Amino acid sequence: MTGGKASPAGRQPSHRTTDAGAASQQSSRGQTFDRYAVIGNPVAHSKSPLIQDAFARATGQHMRYERLLAPVDGFVETVRKFAEADGLGLNVTIPFKVQAFALARERSQRAQAAGACNTLAWRGEHWFGDNTDGAGLVRDLTCNLGETIAGRTLLVLGAGGAARGIAGALLAERPLRLVIANRTHAKAIDLSAQFERGGPISAEPLASLSGQQFDIVVNATSLGLGTSVPAGLWPHRLFTPQALAYDLIYADQTTPFLHWARNEGAARTADGLGMLIEQAAESFYLWRGVRPDTDPVFRLLRAAGRD
Ligand code: ATR
Repeated sequence: MTGGKASPAGRQPSHRTTDAGAASQQSSRGQTFDRYAVIGNPVAHSKSPLIQDAFARATGQHMRYERLLAPVDGFVETVRKFAEADGLGLNVTIPFKVQAFALARERSQRAQAAGACNTLAWRGEHWFGDNTDGAGLVRDLTCNLGETIAGRTLLVLGAGGAARGIAGALLAERPLRLVIANRTHAKAIDLSAQFERGGPISAEPLASLSGQQFDIVVNATSLGLGTSVPAGLWPHRLFTPQALAYDLIYADQTTPFLHWARNEGAARTADGLGMLIEQAAESFYLWRGVRPDTDPVFRLLRAAGRD
């Protein structure tokens, strides 16, 4: 997995005070902590506190990381209160990523391309919005799973928000081609058109995938964990002999897509736990200017899932 320490390019968080003069929170030992949180609805299931706490411990960062449950119609208000209470950064999860994008007054290019933010960083007067999902996937594929993307054939199944969040980062790795295929073909066409300046991306109807094979197949649909892949949804024999099937979702058991992929002959399979941890590490780096080692956290979470 990836490692490394402080980067000279990294930004250190600025400690700031509110109108009320409150500084960062203090522990019982008088240490100050910077405040961060994951915001979502629901959020109780989120593994982000576990991950970010582990990063903070390992890198000696004085952070307090919590869960923020925002009412479905109360995202902006909840974020405003968090900023007033000296909150410095947020991970944003379902269903608020697009609202976070709208809220951010300054945005990274990758957030701009995704049209959604999974990370917010307080910049003293306003929120900076980023999207670390694509970078997290690429790091997991290349650094952890040892895949090469350059020159390979890639298929992304699905054309919703998750696919939009990863397409730019995948294209930046220079694949031979990146095909987007979706149940609703018109959405695949839109997505492909949006990213066409980034590299060789195309949209293909699911039926036309028959007879084609891919080195890396990514499931970016929101097919539920409880269901199996409907018979005939995707054509047979999509995988090259050494192909990797990658599911953006993760679970303690084999996901329906990965179950299907194994039956279809995929040589390797991986769920999205590695991506989850890598996108969190990217957020941590944005906030703290320190890149945490992700390997111990991956092992911790995998082991916890087996209990
Ligand atoms: P997300 O943000 O998780 O991507 P989304 O934007 O609602 O959620 O997109 C969901 C994606 O999963 C879409 O590509 C959707 O296909 P459609 O555009 O045809 O709706 C896909 N999806 C969801 N359920 C599906 C199913 N049962 N079979 C095939 N594709 C499905």
